[in-house]
Amino acid sequence: MYSQGLIGAETETEETAEFLDAFQSRIDAEEKIEPNDPMPHAYRKTLIRMIGQHAHSEIVGMLPEGNWITRAPSLRRKVALLAKVQDEGGHGLYLYSAAETLGVSREQMTEELLSGTAKYSSIFNYPTPTWADIGAIGWLVDGAAIMNQVPLCRCSYGPYARAMIRVCKEESFHQRQGYELMKSLTEGNEDQKAMAQDALNRWWWPSLMMFGPSDTASQHSDQSMKWKIKRFTNDELRQKFVDATVPQAALIGLTMPDPDLTWNQGKNNGDGGYDFGEIDWDEFWRVVKGHGMMNKDRIKARKKAWDEGKWVRDAALAYAAKQNSKAA
Ligand code: 3HC
Repeated sequence: MYSQGLIGAETETEETAEFLDAFQSRIDAEEKIEPNDPMPHAYRKTLIRMIGQHAHSEIVGMLPEGNWITRAPSLRRKVALLAKVQDEGGHGLYLYSAAETLGVSREQMTEELLSGTAKYSSIFNYPTPTWADIGAIGWLVDGAAIMNQVPLCRCSYGPYARAMIRVCKEESFHQRQGYELMKSLTEGNEDQKAMAQDALNRWWWPSLMMFGPSDTASQHSDQSMKWKIKRFTNDELRQKFVDATVPQAALIGLTMPDPDLTWNQGKNNGDGGYDFGEIDWDEFWRVVKGHGMMNKDRIKARKKAWDEGKWVRDAALAYAAKQNSKAA
């Protein structure tokens, strides 16, 4: 069965082979699928999962950095961090709104996050013990997010693609301010250089894990590529990120925490690229399944915010209902 239109206006229709072929022809012709277009249930379900988890990642991602706003070493650093964390909140709102066009409610998505049914990016389950972590997050985490999000600007689902265009414009500032922060630490005293190197050592491999399991282990990639939700596979984006980031580390005098990192001129069709060591997939799945260092703290913080914000939601809904009854 496929459904058409927004939640509540759905008309259930048999998903015939003709319908599925016609839908795929629209995708192959690079047409954008819009909220009221007929779409296969599985396409809708994949997007609700991906966009919802992306939104959760943005909101949960505010926590590790928010932890340092009051402790930033200068007003300039505080303002940049404040702006970045506020941006992430906005990204979450765009993405929850994009997911709502598929017929899922924000309450439902939040309940799934708080119950552990819905995921968010594993990267946000690591602690931020030093100021250099804020630089490493901007440089590496937002750098990886850019690599993953730029292709999503060409996603076949219109609202997601459009949300990504706005998000990516802000991400480039996030990555730049993080890299500049790391550069200034490496130009500082020995302790500051050591702090930057320690942060790179702790954030490098979890940043590679952001791109998801290897292509052979990815259960959704093939279909998402066919539907042009994804434009590159997990491993292709991971490789692009490694190739772009290794020279940046060298430029600021940091050593990559991977003894197997070597230049391979044969990679990328002869353009060359880096071979790198094996990712600790046990760690990846342990964190994804909720057993990372900060998973419980992150969900506890999100639950507290959701519970304490209930009065705001109730007041806004009551006001909207009153306005609507006046207008009726
Ligand atoms: N953390 C948590 N779960 C992950 C994960 C990660 N890093 N990588 C993969 N997974 C999960 C998937 O969600 C899926 O589980 P599910 O079926 O329960 O959803 C399972 O592992 C198998 O992975 P697949 O590769 O088959 O899944 P996808 O095709 O969805 O690929 C993805 C995973 C690459 C993360 C893809 O979902 C994606 O590109 N999502 C949109 C971008 C996004 O969410 N980025 C996360 C970071 S956002 C961010 O960094 C904000 C920035 O401002 C800092």
